[in-house]
Amino acid sequence: MKERIEDILSQVRDFQADSKEALENFRITYLSKKGVIPALFADFKNVTPELRKEMGMRLNELKNTVQEKVEEQLQKFENQHSNDAGFDMSMPANEMKGARHPLSIVRRDINEIFAHLGFTIAEGPEIEDDYHVFSALNFPPDHPARDMQDTFFITKSPDVLLRTHTSSIQVRAMEKTQPPIRIIAPGRVFRNEAISARAHCIFHQIEGLYIDENVSFADLKQTLYHFVQEFFGEGTKVRFRPSYFPFTEVSAEMDISCNICGGKGCNICKHTGWVEILGCGMCDPNILISSGIDPEKYTGFAFGMGVERIAMLKYGINDLRLFFENDLRFLEQFELA
Ligand code: PHE
Repeated sequence: MKERIEDILSQVRDFQADSKEALENFRITYLSKKGVIPALFADFKNVTPELRKEMGMRLNELKNTVQEKVEEQLQKFENQHSNDAGFDMSMPANEMKGARHPLSIVRRDINEIFAHLGFTIAEGPEIEDDYHVFSALNFPPDHPARDMQDTFFITKSPDVLLRTHTSSIQVRAMEKTQPPIRIIAPGRVFRNEAISARAHCIFHQIEGLYIDENVSFADLKQTLYHFVQEFFGEGTKVRFRPSYFPFTEVSAEMDISCNICGGKGCNICKHTGWVEILGCGMCDPNILISSGIDPEKYTGFAFGMGVERIAMLKYGINDLRLFFENDLRFLEQFELA
């Protein structure tokens, strides 16, 4: 029996299948119920007790070798198949089909307008810590935004959470560089909100930060006014309403005249003719100090806008959920890539 096994082993090792059929025949010859290997296993009961151990090991080795051979040869045919796909790789590609996502279009256009004003793009992580999202921005420990109801916490200690706004990127920018700082920071943000036509637990913001000598509220207003004229068209009206953010002083929210109804009043603007698109303000001197920037020398402004809201106004979209559903009937309506 030992010689038989050795014989077969060397045959198996030398085997090279020249076709898939040959490989299948090989498999049947050795491994099928009536094949060589099961027959050897059946003979095993006649082996004398002294030889059992060695024969058993030999037999198993043979079986494994056959199985590996089949696998290896199969792989060979599969690789061959993918290399010889039956088409000419040097042919030019088909014309690309597909459209840009409306949020990508809006983000690109906004970035471009600010790039012309000298703003550069900054980024920060989506998974953040309490310090960059809240503490460094002057949110008191009991501020409601820190509540589990608004913030997705990953772990409490060490504190790891999903950023609820892109203002965390302001902090990271100030940590890294001394003024002049002029950045625009687009990103995804997360809030624990029920999903509806007007709210989602994932959305996008674009943050702006400008710190230099003699930056004033007039600069803030003019920059944002310029942005609105460029993005929504000449003649779009803006208004600033006093507001509050822990990290800006003074703070404001900016509305634009509703460009769905032209200011006459509709569902989107809740019949007021105005829609809020961003929060903004002058950087609170305390924020500058905690990031190592001298507030006697430098002043700055910051703003944060909701990309979905702006896209809804731009394209007359009335349900925020459409941005996330990837329905082709929706997506195909936008600029082709
Ligand atoms: N981060 C604020 C928000 O999400 C917006 C904001 C940004 C306000 C920058 C002022 C300055 O509501």
